Amino acid sequence: NKVVLAYSGGVDTTVCIPYLKKEFGVKEVITLAADLGQGDELEPIRKKALDCGASESLVSDVTTAFIEDYAFPAIQANALYENRYPLSTALARPLIAKLLVEAAETYGADAVAHGCTGKGNDQVRFDVAIAALNPNIKVLAPAREWGMGREETIAYGEQFGLSFPVKKSSPYSIDRNLLGRSIEAGPLENPWNEPLEEVFAITTAIADTPDQPEYIEIGFEQGKPVSLNGHALSPVELITQLNQLAGRHGVGRIDMIENRLVGIKSREIYEAPALLVLIAAHRDLESLTLTGDVTHYKRGIEQTYSELIYNGLWFSPLKAALDAFIQQTQAQVSGTVRVKLFKGNATLAGRKSTNALYSEALATYSADDQFDHRAAEGFIYVWGLPTRVWAEKTRSANR
Ligand code: ARG
Ligand code: SIN
Repeated sequence: NKVVLAYSGGVDTTVCIPYLKKEFGVKEVITLAADLGQGDELEPIRKKALDCGASESLVSDVTTAFIEDYAFPAIQANALYENRYPLSTALARPLIAKLLVEAAETYGADAVAHGCTGKGNDQVRFDVAIAALNPNIKVLAPAREWGMGREETIAYGEQFGLSFPVKKSSPYSIDRNLLGRSIEAGPLENPWNEPLEEVFAITTAIADTPDQPEYIEIGFEQGKPVSLNGHALSPVELITQLNQLAGRHGVGRIDMIENRLVGIKSREIYEAPALLVLIAAHRDLESLTLTGDVTHYKRGIEQTYSELIYNGLWFSPLKAALDAFIQQTQAQVSGTVRVKLFKGNATLAGRKSTNALYSEALATYSADDQFDHRAAEGFIYVWGLPTRVWAEKTRSANR
C-alpha cells in the first residue's frame, strides 16, 4: 500500500513511480534520494519525484556517514575486490538500504523498492541488507521484472505524462558517489575496446597531467586518514581534496573484467583516486606498525572482508566478527605516509610513525648494529633441523 522507493532522478527510478502504482497497486510512493556526495543537485530531484507522482519526496544527506562508517572501515581493511576494485559503489548500497528501512519504519510503509536490474550485484546488496535490518519489510524491484529496454521504459513513462529531456544520450551506465565512478556498458561491453576518454570525469588523461611530480603527506590515526599535507580535515573534505589532487595526476583509473556474484563476468571501468591512494598508503603504514604475523594473517581477513562487501553481506555476523579483528589491529596504525603523484602513479615515497616497529639499529648494514649475529647460528641450527633430517633420509634412501 505504501512503498519507499530509492530514487536517483534517472529514467529507471522515475518510471518506477507510475509502474509501482499501476502494476503493483501501490497507493502511495514515497521516494528517497540519498546524497552520497555524487554532486547532483538534489532539490530538483526532490521536486521531480513529486511531479512524477510521489506522495512524499525525501532527501537525506548522508555523505559524512558514508565516509566515516562505510569508507573508513573499508580503508582499514585495505578492501579491494579481486585485488583491484575498491568497492566504491558496493559500499553505498548497505547505507541506502538502511535509509530505506528507517524511512519505511517512520512512515509505516510495508515495502521498499529499488530500480536495480536482475543481472547485477546491486539488487543482491539491497535485498540482503534490507532483510538483515528488518526481515518483515518486503522488497519490490520493478526493473527486475518489467523486461523493458531503454526506449520502452521511456515510452512507458510517457503514457503517464512523464517526459525525459533528450539530453545527449550516453551509451554508458554510470554510478557515482564521493568515492568514485563506476562505468559500464556501451562500447565497453567488448573487452578488447580501450575505454574512450569520454568515460572519465574525475581523473585526467596521462597526456594532460602535470610534468612535475607532486608529493603529498597523508596523516593516519588508528588506521583512519585524518590529515592532508599537515592540515587536519574532516572525512568528507579529505576525500574531496584527495580526489582532486590524485585525479589531476591521472591516478585512480581501473579497467577490469570482474566476477559478479550472479555468475556473470562484466567489464567495468572505475575511477576512485582518493580511495586507491588511501588504501595503498594505509597498507604501507601497517607494514611499519604491525607485527609480521598480524600483517600476514590480516591479508586473508581482508580478502574475505572485500568479498563480503561485494557480495552484499555488509550487515552479517561474519562481517561484524571480522570488524572486531580489524579494529583490534588498528590501534597502532598512526603516522604519516608520503606519496608521490605522477603520470597516473601513486608511489609510496616514505612513511613514519611513533609506533613504528621498524628499528634502524637492528636493520642497519653498518658494523655497530644491535643485532647479535652469533645468536643466528643457534637459531638456524634449530630452524633447519627438520630439513636436515629429511635431507639425510632421502640421500640414504636414494643410495
Ligand atoms: N560492478 C560494480 C559493483 O558491483 C559497479 C556497478 C555499478 N553500477 C553501474 N551502473 N555501473 O559494485
Ligand atoms: C545493475 O544491474 O543494477 C547494475 C550493475 C550491478 O549491480 O552490478
